[in-house]
Amino acid sequence: MSNEIRAERPLIVGPSDPGAPFPVTLEGTVVKGYGRGSRELGIPTANLSEDAIAAICSELKTGVYYGWVQIGEVASQVYPMVMSIGWNPYYRNERRSAEVHIIHDFPEDFYNVAMRVLILAYIRPEQNYPSLDALIKDIHTDIQVAKHSLKRPKYAELRSHKLFGFT
Ligand SMILES: Cc1cc2nc3c(=O)[nH]c(=O)nc-3n(C[C@H](O)[C@H](O)[C@H](O)COP(=O)(O)O)c2cc1C
Repeated sequence: MSNEIRAERPLIVGPSDPGAPFPVTLEGTVVKGYGRGSRELGIPTANLSEDAIAAICSELKTGVYYGWVQIGEVASQVYPMVMSIGWNPYYRNERRSAEVHIIHDFPEDFYNVAMRVLILAYIRPEQNYPSLDALIKDIHTDIQVAKHSLKRPKYAELRSHKLFGFT
């Protein structure tokens, strides 16, 4: 929760081979969030239902993570993702949330579809920010971290994990 200017963040985060407890799998339905994601941040997020979140909260601390995600049909396209698990201190949420930003341009919002998430590494703790711009800037860095970190072989090969319906 500091306001000082932080040094540039590294673009590769996490060990070269995802260690325990990863990969952590998460399956649920996309529900409506507070609706700020696209409107205020310009970063759409898919929110998971409470019951899906409860299952992972015993395994993972709150914070920002990266990995792979699939929407809808099994064996369909798998995309890189960054996600936040927690309370969104900037917005002082009363409900805990798990929100996934899928690193892909979708033409429109979607709800009530299945989402399968493979969480592979922790990036950083959730933070409070002096401004919305600072929050947006850090999420853009998280996206770069995910893209770079997932190119490493041990992470890239998990794009075809059995969770996604590939045999
Ligand atoms: C990768 C990522 C990192 C995030 N990091 C933070 C954070 O550090 N602090 C915070 O308050 N919210 C964080 N958020 C949550 C945003 O505040 C959230 O996406 C926004 O509240 C939109 O939520 P809504 O769709 O439920 O309205 C993060 C979200 C994502 C996708």
